Amino acid sequence: MTLPPIPLFGVSFQNPVLLASGTAGFGHEVSGVIDLEALGGIVTKAVTPEARRGHPGPRVAEFAGGMLNAVGLANPGLEAVREHELPWLAAATRRARVLVNVAGGTIAPTPRPAGSSSARHPRGCASWCAAAARLPLAPSR
Ligand SMILES: Cc1cc2nc3c(=O)[nH]c(=O)nc-3n(C[C@H](O)[C@H](O)[C@H](O)COP(=O)(O)O)c2cc1C
Repeated sequence: MTLPPIPLFGVSFQNPVLLASGTAGFGHEVSGVIDLEALGGIVTKAVTPEARRGHPGPRVAEFAGGMLNAVGLANPGLEAVREHELPWLAAATRRARVLVNVAGGTIAPTPRPAGSSSARHPRGCASWCAAAARLPLAPSR
């Protein structure tokens, strides 16, 4: 079945299936088992302006009905993600959209991952979106 393209945030998604933030890291972690290009898009793991170590362990608990996690938005920070993660993801996706989940601790303007996914993206269109405002964040560790 072919779905009509879905316009959202000023870009077109080929289908409504997005991988939720954090469930697929920055894409390469799942690229061996998922065809990223079959997706409407992938929402990256949350990225904060500065690196965060996240919560101390244990951070995951399993139970009969599923699992709970409290990772604390551990991530290498926007600059490292821009440099080391987004180029791979941009190169690996031509049809699937990439949404970069940028999390912040204040309501000051959140830095855009400039010069990375959108500016250097071969499609030359907006493939990122500051998707989440998580307020307040726990103090960075
Ligand atoms: C392993 C795992 C990691 C996640 N990491 C993040 C994350 O980094 N940032 C974020 O905003 N949400 C994160 N989430 C939350 C998911 O994006 C999603 O909101 C959550 O799984 C609820 O989805 P649902 O409403 O479809 O059930 C994570 C979820 C899981 C299971």
